[in-house]
Amino acid sequence: MKKLTALLASATMALSLVGCSTAKTYTGEAYGHDKENPVKVTLTIKDKTITKVEVDASHETAGIGSKAADALPEQIVSANSLDVDGVSGATQTSKAIIEAATAALKQAGLEPSDLVSKNTSTTKAKDIEETVDVVIVGAGGAGMTAAITATDAGKKVIVVESQPIAGGNSVRSTGGMNAAKTPYQDKNEFAESAGVEKTLKTAAEKFADNATITALAATVKAQWDAYQANPQGYFDSVELMELDTMIGGKGKNNPELVKALAENSADAIEWLASIGAEVKNVGAFGGASVKRIHRPVNADGKVTAVGAYIVPILEKNLQDRNVHFLFDTTANEIIMKDGKAVGIKGTGKDGHKVTINAKSVVIATGGFGANAEMVEKYKPELKGFATTNAEGAQGQGIDMATAAGAATVDMDQIQIHPTVHIEEDGNAHLITEGLRGDGAILVNAEGKRFYDEVSTRDKVSAAIIAQPEKSAWLVVDQSMVDKSAVIAGYIKSGYTVTGATYEELAKAMGVDEATFTSTMNTWNQAVETKSDTEFGRTSFANPLATAPYYAIKITPAVHHTMGGIVINPKAEVLNEKGEAISGLYAAGEVTGGVHGANRLGGNAVADFVVFGRISGQSAADNAK
Ligand code: FUM
Repeated sequence: MKKLTALLASATMALSLVGCSTAKTYTGEAYGHDKENPVKVTLTIKDKTITKVEVDASHETAGIGSKAADALPEQIVSANSLDVDGVSGATQTSKAIIEAATAALKQAGLEPSDLVSKNTSTTKAKDIEETVDVVIVGAGGAGMTAAITATDAGKKVIVVESQPIAGGNSVRSTGGMNAAKTPYQDKNEFAESAGVEKTLKTAAEKFADNATITALAATVKAQWDAYQANPQGYFDSVELMELDTMIGGKGKNNPELVKALAENSADAIEWLASIGAEVKNVGAFGGASVKRIHRPVNADGKVTAVGAYIVPILEKNLQDRNVHFLFDTTANEIIMKDGKAVGIKGTGKDGHKVTINAKSVVIATGGFGANAEMVEKYKPELKGFATTNAEGAQGQGIDMATAAGAATVDMDQIQIHPTVHIEEDGNAHLITEGLRGDGAILVNAEGKRFYDEVSTRDKVSAAIIAQPEKSAWLVVDQSMVDKSAVIAGYIKSGYTVTGATYEELAKAMGVDEATFTSTMNTWNQAVETKSDTEFGRTSFANPLATAPYYAIKITPAVHHTMGGIVINPKAEVLNEKGEAISGLYAAGEVTGGVHGANRLGGNAVADFVVFGRISGQSAADNAK
């Protein structure tokens, strides 16, 4: 019997190998980010050679996984090998593509080692030298926004990016974009402004010695009184956004930068719409007195992740404008001449030298949240924390700018995000604050709430770290899932436990069933009465009363580096004397001062759009 089986097996193998002499297709599957819908790879194989690779990764994250699906087929075919680099920043999808391709290969009766690798050239690529009006270092949100703006101002622009794909941290951004006094806020489903009173009280009690906060609070109080006497639309104002941002940043922010952020935020939403990116759904986020975060929705009307939505649109706008990107190219020096920035030098993937001569240089390289050594240097207590950051967030732009004379500020102000899900393999996934803003609660291992979930990130993180397990559960119900493609994505990715009743969910979480049920009933009552007597939460949505229920285990992780290069409201980089360095601009997370000691959720996207535009315009004006 054994012999017969062996004979059949070898006959099958022989047949499939015979089949390989004419081109045949084989399909394999493997799971990437989405644990419900596998990545499918179809290989066309002839004579042990892969002649074509087709990847269906349509359920992977847009702007990240899709990049691996675009890049790997070419890499595999040109090397005739599955031993290819993958796309850094899209590791999970790259791994799934290789696993699916290996499975397809097995169906052809082949192992990866049976493929005869093609001799790919090892010759170093030629050095590159180009001259443009504006060179932008970094293809994240700020860099691409600056590039579009400078191009639209008639300038020749080049974008240099250390990673193989665009997007940086921006493409991972989930929550949305803060903007004050937009028409979309007036359409808000939950148009109450309970947080304003609380903010004015905080300003009076905790920031009486801060002149900016006191002045802003006085203005907001007058606006709030006038609104209450004659309510028109939804209450918000530029000054209230400034006040929230300053209080969130513990008064450490640069007030001029905060003003520029808030004043330009509503126009930035319109600018995004003008390039095809609509963020019109308004929700609540931590530290905002009112509902101010603007989010995209998908074709089904469900809230979706902001970064994965905006980044491909920015990239397409640049492609449509024929802007040249140099990927896999790390800039390491700003060329200075007579005190002016006149270009950059960098190194390409093959070790070739890249020199870009330019009239203006914009640094938009992001922060340093992925550089564990640098994080530990500036904030030793964060040693060993996971990070939500993209691999490119290494802080190289800060080093490069300081070498050119730039000053830095607040380098030790590093934010940990309260709700990050860590998978068994150690991969860290941001669980958006939007869940709490839309009604989710945090529950500890005893099955109890323990803090105001929509307080600022520093406070919520500290409350979680104070729990014995340094972790907690984020609880949502089916009605929240029905409105959010983001939460549906978390379920598909396998981050949740679930239960048809509160008791069943408690069991799945491993917490006391009676305590958890009582917690849920008390919370639902607080939502009904819009009064959280336990923890003073002021932002409510709906009761968590629609089964089934879901919980995600979360813990805080490094998220944003608030410190960085000093700029002024024109995005000009300043030296230690506070003077602008001619020709040098910076925008986004590489800069410091906008967010002070703690960034509010939704202000990073506002930051990259507002200061991306300002830096692009300033750089273009300088390049006349
Ligand atoms: O929680 C979040 O969605 C993160 C948003 C942000 O950092 O702005």
